[in-house]
Amino acid sequence: MSNIILGIESSCDDTSAAVVKDCILLSNVIASQKVHEAYGGVVPELASRAHQQNIVPVVSEAIRQAGISKSQISAIAFTRGPGLPGSLHVGTSFAKGLALALGVPLIDVNHLHGHVLAHFIKDDENTPVPQFPFLCLLISGGNSQIIKVNSPGDMEILGQTIDDAAGEAFDKCAKIMGLPYPGGPVIDRLAKDGDPDRFKFAKPHISDFNYSFSGLKTSFLYTLRDAVKQDPDFVANNICDLAASLQKTIIDILMDKFAKAIKQTGIKTIAIAGGVSANSAIRNAVEDYARRHRITAFIPKRAFTTDNAAMIAVAGHFKFLDHQFMDISEPPFSRVSI
Ligand code: KG4
Repeated sequence: MSNIILGIESSCDDTSAAVVKDCILLSNVIASQKVHEAYGGVVPELASRAHQQNIVPVVSEAIRQAGISKSQISAIAFTRGPGLPGSLHVGTSFAKGLALALGVPLIDVNHLHGHVLAHFIKDDENTPVPQFPFLCLLISGGNSQIIKVNSPGDMEILGQTIDDAAGEAFDKCAKIMGLPYPGGPVIDRLAKDGDPDRFKFAKPHISDFNYSFSGLKTSFLYTLRDAVKQDPDFVANNICDLAASLQKTIIDILMDKFAKAIKQTGIKTIAIAGGVSANSAIRNAVEDYARRHRITAFIPKRAFTTDNAAMIAVAGHFKFLDHQFMDISEPPFSRVSI
């Protein structure tokens, strides 16, 4: 029998609901919160208020677009953490209330598992999905991790950032150049017209498969500070080359450790996930690596790189198969590892 899972995501500043039937996507509705743009980052209090406003219409619309009735829903999956506490509370409370009202199981999903399992969102039965185990580079505003995915519920972190995440490196360097938040997509766009070899920035030397991006940020800041002393218009006159060189440095750092992990584990299926996996250069770099080494790469659709409830519903699908349900009295977790 088919399982129909309603997923709810509210960990940060996107309110999203999605319906999947045996991992085949029936709907995925996202209400993004524009209110934060004026502040240069997400304001937690405003985020939870906006979730309160959005959650009922977003869930109703996801059910409507899926063409199902509420009585067909097998279970409710929701993001339990990590994320902003106030934002998580909205999704958690709503998911509990709806599960109680419909008399269906409640499934808690780790948001990071959701990003990794986004590769199992299917258009139809023929959509290819990764074979286990696979290696996933999870790169977002809060994480940079190399994960060995043994099964939907068994993920091992092989390496991770010891300071800033890759997305933070994009966003903080964009801010230094006076670009708007989030800076990652802006840098990606500007880099297309720039020379990636024009400027050199510091790369970290740290052990194992771990990452560090704080040294790069400092090196970027000092390069610009010194250059602006000579030419006040330096940033404006070189913006595309700066964006391209910065992007190349971040991608080189990411790929260096990812390639080492692929070689050492001998795993032949790789994937990328998280907000930064929308970046054109990392997508090209991973595809190119896979082609050269004759391995299989999974690159997510851009819609599934940022926060979305489809990935939560799919992660919920796997837990549903294992009867891993959550007790209605348990709270969300703002901090939790993979
Ligand atoms: O996974 P995500 O939506 O949420 C957080 O972890 O916060 O990731 C957001 C991050 C931001 O740092 C943003 O700048 C980055 O993903 N990002 C990108 C691109 N699109 C989003 N970074 C580089 N290139 C992009 N095209």
